Amino acid sequence: MSKSLNSALAAVLLVCAGGVQAGVLGLGSTATPEMIAGWDIDIRPDGQGLPDGEGSVADGEAIYEAQCASCHGSFGEGVGRWPVLSGGFGTLDTLDPKKTVGSYWPYASTLWDYIHRAMPYAAPQSLTDDEVYSVAAYVLYLNDIVDDDFISNRETFSKVKMPNEANFYVDNRPDVQNTRCMENCADPRQFEIVTTINGVTPTGHFKEDSGVAANHYGGATPIATAKATEVALSDAATNGKSVYDKACMACHTMGIAGAPKTGDVADWSTRIAQGMDVLHSNAINGYQGEKGVMPAKGGNMSLSDDEVRDAVLYMVESSQ
Ligand code: HEC
Ligand code: HEC
Repeated sequence: MSKSLNSALAAVLLVCAGGVQAGVLGLGSTATPEMIAGWDIDIRPDGQGLPDGEGSVADGEAIYEAQCASCHGSFGEGVGRWPVLSGGFGTLDTLDPKKTVGSYWPYASTLWDYIHRAMPYAAPQSLTDDEVYSVAAYVLYLNDIVDDDFISNRETFSKVKMPNEANFYVDNRPDVQNTRCMENCADPRQFEIVTTINGVTPTGHFKEDSGVAANHYGGATPIATAKATEVALSDAATNGKSVYDKACMACHTMGIAGAPKTGDVADWSTRIAQGMDVLHSNAINGYQGEKGVMPAKGGNMSLSDDEVRDAVLYMVESSQ
């Protein structure tokens, strides 16, 4: 933590505690080095912040058995529902990932920091620095990350490489790397959320008549406005839209469970070719199709047949 932030925190704390002495603004007092030291306990990934001191896996085992095993288990396996500290390797990309210190944490420094700051659960910050070095080394040992003769101190601890470190990297998704628009940019006052029947997700944040071809991603090509917004709906189909929103969109908007997407002209053309009677009957009575099961009335039996017909009409008019 930076010094100034620490001073700010200390000052706020003093104010909360009832105020000691008025400063420039009539608030708080200057934080002393001792106050700052009490807050400045974070350890960084490169080991910066690690204190003097030393510990061993052997010493760590004794401390762990006495102060940690009752919750975290003798091998870090976790007792009952207390957190598991070891194992889980190779599970992160499975349906049941086991995130432990060994399988998941990117930096050993976090382990030192966490134990020092927060463990044992009932008596945080009760361990000496040497004890933290020892017990942290032991947790690493339980994860096969260090050997049993590992001596843990500032120098050796900073060099420990965690198996999952490489999977933590600076966010590389396009949104976070956009270069800022500097000229001919869209005027934020012109932005408009364009909702479409194709989903609750906006397709673009620009107004077509603003004359600026900028979209949400800062690119030059506007995302096409969904077809359905251009379609002039008949009265019955307009009624049908509210039924659709309530009972059909859950599947038909995104194409869940094999449902034909509303607005997907290609998928709907063959369906429409069957004639409205077939579509009505299939929607009202349900059917098993090639792509999936259309439940009768979309599973909403409180709808009248006419309401379902209107919804079908809305889907058809929006998809041709
Ligand atoms: C009374 C039960 C208890 C004891 C004893 C205990 N812990 Fe914990 N430990 C917890 C709980 C609960 C958490 C989760 C806290 C949270 O998520 O806020 C935790 C979390 C941890 C974590 C982080 C796990 C993770 O993946 O998020 C580590 C590391 C840890 N403890 C180490 C230790 C060490 C080392 C000791 C002994 C010095 C110890 N604990 C003693 C209950 C305990
Ligand atoms: C649980 C998901 C689900 C819900 C809710 C749902 N549908 Fe469907 N619907 C489907 C699936 C799946 C199909 C495609 C089945 C196939 O052809 O393989 C389908 C197909 C259809 C078809 C095309 C019939 C054909 O013959 O091609 C119509 C019309 C239709 N649904 C209307 C509706 C209406 C109206 C509602 C709301 C009242 C609705 N659906 C709600 C899943 C759903």
